[in-house]
Amino acid sequence: MANLQGSLGEDSAPNGHLAAHTPGEAIELRRDVLVSEMDQIIHSHTLERARYYLKRLQTGIETARTGPINDINLNRWKEYDYILTDSLWVMPNRDSSGAHIAEYWGNYIPQIPHQMMLRYTKRGEWALDPFAGSGTTLIECRRLGRNGIGIEINPSVVERAKELITSEPNPHHISTEMMVGDSRTFDFEAAMAQAGIAKVHLLMMHPPYHDIIRFSNDPNDLSNAETTADFLAMWGQVLDRVTPCLAENRFLALVIGDKYVQGEWIPLGFHCMSEVLKRGYTLRSIVVKNFEETRGKRRQQDLWRYRALAGGFYIFKHEYVMIFKKRTAVNPESETES
Ligand SMILES: C[S@@+](CC[C@H](N)C(=O)[O-])C[C@H]1O[C@@H](n2cnc3c(N)ncnc32)[C@H](O)[C@@H]1O
Repeated sequence: MANLQGSLGEDSAPNGHLAAHTPGEAIELRRDVLVSEMDQIIHSHTLERARYYLKRLQTGIETARTGPINDINLNRWKEYDYILTDSLWVMPNRDSSGAHIAEYWGNYIPQIPHQMMLRYTKRGEWALDPFAGSGTTLIECRRLGRNGIGIEINPSVVERAKELITSEPNPHHISTEMMVGDSRTFDFEAAMAQAGIAKVHLLMMHPPYHDIIRFSNDPNDLSNAETTADFLAMWGQVLDRVTPCLAENRFLALVIGDKYVQGEWIPLGFHCMSEVLKRGYTLRSIVVKNFEETRGKRRQQDLWRYRALAGGFYIFKHEYVMIFKKRTAVNPESETES
């Protein structure tokens, strides 16, 4: 960092905030970005162009340009290289810092909710996770200064998640509520009323990948659905409950993988996507993310490779992060008028 006037500005930490500065306030710029801007100015072919670049640099420092769904200051977009914009994510390592101890079989890597919250929420807004598991989303909420509500069907998993979440520092003093419930029937309105909010700003959804991992013996657990059709019906019930909680024009992130059944590839991710699209959302992006290599899998690698060669199939190495935008509700009266 090149600190132009002394102390560190809090908002210049790598958390999506590179806010505007008032005269006399400390300004912090990343040295490499500043050097590349200066380089562009020095190598301008005309004085007019150099003035233009200089003015742009000044504006970027003095003013912030943010949109309605996040805190990314577009006047300093070059400094956000930690925010991913490509649709292929190859992440060799999970973030295992702080409370992210990865003991829960079937949790997701913290980088997923981290990236989603930076892109689709502002600081102080609310995320809802109806399959909260070990609380990865809520731990990230604490780090990034977003409020979070997590629902999880398994009471013992909730107890452990609460321990983990509260072991994570809460420097932004936000609220992270983890509750036991079946997200197909849970009273989300009451939970939001208790939190003092009318809507949430992001739905982070990481359901079971049907029965790939059986999370419990509870018949209401989606991982115990008998057939793919039953699983999708239960998934649809959760969507029906959480969709009214999401503010219009805000985002739902679905993390899901496909599965094989008796040699047939079941495109679970795309089936789940279809259910979302039936419910007033548009698809914004599909990210393909690599699976991490776990030690257990590595030992089985040779066996799977043999089976793949013999059976003519491909070994799963990816899952999806699908991002949907909730459409603005159509007013039935204005529809009939036109
Ligand atoms: C893939 S895991 C989510 C893991 C989580 N993202 C994490 O990082 O720990 C899916 C979770 O959904 C829970 N679950 C299954 N059916 C549910 C339901 N009907 N309501 C709420 N939670 C449910 C399971 O117990 C499991 O913990």
